[in-house]
Amino acid sequence: MKKILITGGAGYIGSHTAVQLVQAGYEPIIIDDLSNSEEKVLGRLKEILGKEISFYKGDCGDRQLLEQIAKEHELSGVIHFAAFKAVGESTKLPLKYYRNNVGSLVTLLQFMQDHHIKDLVFSSSCTVYGQPDKLPVTEATPRQDAESPYGNTKKICEDILIDFIKSKSGLRVISLRYFNPVGAHPSGKIGELPIGVPANLVPFVTQAAAGIREKLTVFGADYDTADGSCIRDYIHVMDLADAHLKAFEYLSKQEDNFYDVFNVGTGNGNTVLEVIKAFEKVNGIKVNYEIGPRRPGDIVKIWADTSKINEKLKWQPSYSLEDSMRDSWNWQRQLSN
Ligand SMILES: NC(=O)c1ccc[n+]([C@@H]2O[C@H](COP(=O)([O-])OP(=O)(O)OC[C@H]3O[C@@H](n4cnc5c(N)ncnc54)[C@H](O)[C@@H]3O)[C@@H](O)[C@H]2O)c1
Repeated sequence: MKKILITGGAGYIGSHTAVQLVQAGYEPIIIDDLSNSEEKVLGRLKEILGKEISFYKGDCGDRQLLEQIAKEHELSGVIHFAAFKAVGESTKLPLKYYRNNVGSLVTLLQFMQDHHIKDLVFSSSCTVYGQPDKLPVTEATPRQDAESPYGNTKKICEDILIDFIKSKSGLRVISLRYFNPVGAHPSGKIGELPIGVPANLVPFVTQAAAGIREKLTVFGADYDTADGSCIRDYIHVMDLADAHLKAFEYLSKQEDNFYDVFNVGTGNGNTVLEVIKAFEKVNGIKVNYEIGPRRPGDIVKIWADTSKINEKLKWQPSYSLEDSMRDSWNWQRQLSN
């Protein structure tokens, strides 16, 4: 059974990926410092899977801890989810973001090379595209100057990976550029943990529906889109988790010193108002919302061209926007109980 180290595996996307890995016959080993997650996620994973996942509480940039893990497990790959991701906070505390997001990758790469652990899947983001001139965006769409230190850490990490592969380090690496992850495990046992006021749309929708927030503000309904609100590509977290599995299978067939990058989205854009309507329809609940002014710095529209991941990794999304809205609400109700 291949053992895969999952940094940030107690977090939103990492925990769902751990489930998929176990179900596909891998053995995930989680390292997480719980800076943005809770230990009870491990108990929830056990409930879903019927068995415990090895867990190390700590910083994945801590080389000593990584050495301990390597002593106890023969690792064949790493998925590097661990990072800070709050865009707003990153503009106030940029060094916190550079230290964690960039620093942990550097430590991890050295560790992997020293231990001949070849395969790495890295969590990148569509934020590297900024507001693209042409839609949908392909992997060849030029990256733009980052809007925030958070976005810049993703761009820098991608560049570090390219340089490290060019240096004939022996690794095989895929960067997955996630579009907008939404939804939760259909069991409702794991999902996105909202800490503070949510910065993303869907947690705000579910909290408004649950009465935790008085109302949701739609930032601008006068953009050049069908109903005037912004467009994003919403990808169910289970489909996103599955893309990591497909990435590992693909990496195992590549030569050493391999690097590639793939968009992970549905290939369709939905407006904010469409998301709210889909939520209301599938769950039979009204969401209290109002149209507010545009928010400075918002990307107006972006969605992915997914032909590369469809063709090369043989990956296709299987969950609809309605599925995402149903599972997000199911998760919210578990949290509210
Ligand atoms: N959720 C999104 O909208 C989105 C979009 C694009 C890219 N990403 C990227 O995907 C990855 C996972 O995102 P997520 O939504 O699951 O976030 P998350 O915050 O839920 O999960 C990240 C996990 O990493 C842990 N962590 C952070 N720094 C760590 C460190 N140094 N050592 C060990 N653990 C550490 C946190 O405690 C958390 O459990 C991140 O790299 C994020 O930047 C997320």
